[in-house]
Amino acid sequence: MSTILVTGGAGFIGANFILLARKLQWANIVNLDKLTYASNLENLAELKGDKNYRFVQGDISNLELVNYLLQEYQPNAIINFAAESHVDRSIFSPQDFMQTNVAGTCQLLAASRFYWQKLPLEQQKQFRFLQISTDEVYGSLQLEEPAFTEDNPYAPNSPYAASKAAADHFVRAYHHTYGLPTLTTNCSNNYGPLQFPEKLIPLIILNALAGKSLPIYGDGQNIRDWLYVIDHCAAIYLILQQGKIGETYNIGGLNEQTNLSVVEKICYMLDELVPQLNFSYSALITFVPDRPGHDRRYAIDCSKIMTELGWKPQESFDSGLRKTVEWYLHNPLWVSQVHSEAYQKWLKQNYENRGIV
Ligand code: NAD
Ligand code: TYD
Repeated sequence: MSTILVTGGAGFIGANFILLARKLQWANIVNLDKLTYASNLENLAELKGDKNYRFVQGDISNLELVNYLLQEYQPNAIINFAAESHVDRSIFSPQDFMQTNVAGTCQLLAASRFYWQKLPLEQQKQFRFLQISTDEVYGSLQLEEPAFTEDNPYAPNSPYAASKAAADHFVRAYHHTYGLPTLTTNCSNNYGPLQFPEKLIPLIILNALAGKSLPIYGDGQNIRDWLYVIDHCAAIYLILQQGKIGETYNIGGLNEQTNLSVVEKICYMLDELVPQLNFSYSALITFVPDRPGHDRRYAIDCSKIMTELGWKPQESFDSGLRKTVEWYLHNPLWVSQVHSEAYQKWLKQNYENRGIV
């Protein structure tokens, strides 16, 4: 079986990918993660005792460590999930995003190049560097504009999106300059189990259950294209197997929703699953001051991966959202563990000025 070096595998999407990869025996996995606030080793607790899974705490910027891991484990592929991933935090501290998302990716590319160049020819041909990117690099769409294709020019608006765009350009340059066999995926908003509760969907589920306000930025009419995380993981594996070297693939949920509609759906689901007498959770919805530079609409045209590789999302928004809400309901221990002091501090920093404590 092949070996994949996964970076950022203790976070939301990386952990879902690793769990699936081990369950379906896709590959042996080495997981390099710095263990920032967004990570949680509990996400991977079920892999305890799995001889084909290794966890290493460390930074993708640590060239010496990455060089060592590549020599030691001889992976056939690297999937780079590691990132600072929250737009609101990037507004408060853009430098952290520059450090990991840009400089870290550059270091990982440098180590990958030297490792790949020294591989025997057969292994060199098989090796892939897969960069996990986002649709946010394309900027914002007006309502009437067509969805983003792979040919859209990059126009990032938030410090997060700018850092991911810069990293994507380095990946592209490593392919064109050195021939490194790269692949890049640009995916829309993910949701599902294990997502850190600073992001919209888990934030709303957990605030509602705690009887707290449900903060909606601006007028709630911003649109995102939501994809269930397992559908994203399946797409990543398919692209790793069959994607054309040097190309980028858009991955989307064919599922555009306004933020208000997402929040209302969660409320109605909770009304059914955890009913309260004479009260709908939607009464907690609170419109709050907007995010600076808030992109109005993201929409992904994923016809390339659908027609060329035969992928399509399996989960509908209703079924995926129900699984997600049920997961948060059934995992109170996980939820209590991520509600650290540092997280409370973040909530204060981001929401106090918006009138929500
Ligand atoms: P996340 O914030 O949940 O997890 C990120 C993980 O990376 C954490 O475990 C963290 O500890 C680790 N990490 C951070 N800096 C690191 C460093 N310097 N070295 C090693 N590890 C480090 O993020 P996520 O939502 O799982 O996103 C994963 C990737 O997918 C990111 O690259 C993100 O840009 C991209 N993406 C996310 C979404 C989404 O909706 N969540 C959509 C499209 C693309
Ligand atoms: P988020 O989950 O942060 O993802 P992204 O910014 O990467 O799209 O936010 C999704 C949408 O929800 C985005 O339009 C911002 C909005 N939002 C709110 O309205 N309230 C909130 O408290 C948060 C965190 C997000």
